[in-house]
Amino acid sequence: MTDRFDTFPLINGVRRLNGSAHPFEALYLYVREKENRVLNDQQVAQLPAIEKDHEHAKEWAKRSETAHRFLEYLKSKETGLRILDIGCGNAWFSNKMANQGHEVMAQDLNLYELEQGRRVFQNDQLHFIYAHELDAILENDRFDMITFNASFQYFGHGKQLLETLKSHLTERGELHILDTPFYQGEREKQQAKSRTEMYYQNMNCPELAQFYHHYALDDLVEHEILYKPKFSRLSRLFGKTVSPFCWIKIVND
Ligand SMILES: C[S@@+](CC[C@H](N)C(=O)[O-])C[C@H]1O[C@@H](n2cnc3c(N)ncnc32)[C@H](O)[C@@H]1O
Repeated sequence: MTDRFDTFPLINGVRRLNGSAHPFEALYLYVREKENRVLNDQQVAQLPAIEKDHEHAKEWAKRSETAHRFLEYLKSKETGLRILDIGCGNAWFSNKMANQGHEVMAQDLNLYELEQGRRVFQNDQLHFIYAHELDAILENDRFDMITFNASFQYFGHGKQLLETLKSHLTERGELHILDTPFYQGEREKQQAKSRTEMYYQNMNCPELAQFYHHYALDDLVEHEILYKPKFSRLSRLFGKTVSPFCWIKIVND
């Protein structure tokens, strides 16, 4: 699957399709450090589980719920799928998919976390790709599944991107978007955009706002919603974890 990348250097187990750093990387890591979101190798190995007293434990509980739901769904598929996980970060989720018997290409432009993922997850079915653009990975290739887990919001021109990715799905291929916020209408999107700009300003990194995008479901191509959050009084009362994110499935039509 990755033979066509053999001409690119393999350094610390990561296939590097680009030789220099992307401007996003240093900014992103600077903020993630401040947010206490850069985890050590032992923590990454356990994800999505994390220490109960970790600052982001509640968020990981929600992410764990999403991952569990998706991985159960994946179990209903034949094994040996070729999966492209876009914006994989430290690849904890890519590794879970590979562990179910699939071949996963874990792509990101965040070399620090890719190298960490390679250190932590030793799986022959998991390939780590450092690439600034998706074109070099897509080329004439097709995938049985493409996933974005908490990463779609980092890509601009969402509709156009999805149209392109759809054309790189196999006949019964599927694209899934998980753990990305979607807003209702222009007003909500604008408000969220302003909050994002303010947030990164306060983080002393206003440049990062340009890499974060806000979408409504209407901004996507035709899709199916496989999960929609339902917040009931009972779930609130019992403090039940409810993921606030929709799960979106897009197929090659
Ligand atoms: C919130 S993290 C999610 C990581 C991982 N998928 C997960 O589920 O935990 C978002 C990831 O998207 C990556 N990212 C942002 N822009 C990207 C781009 N243009 N190409 C590839 N990855 C990108 C970031 O480097 C980061 O690793």
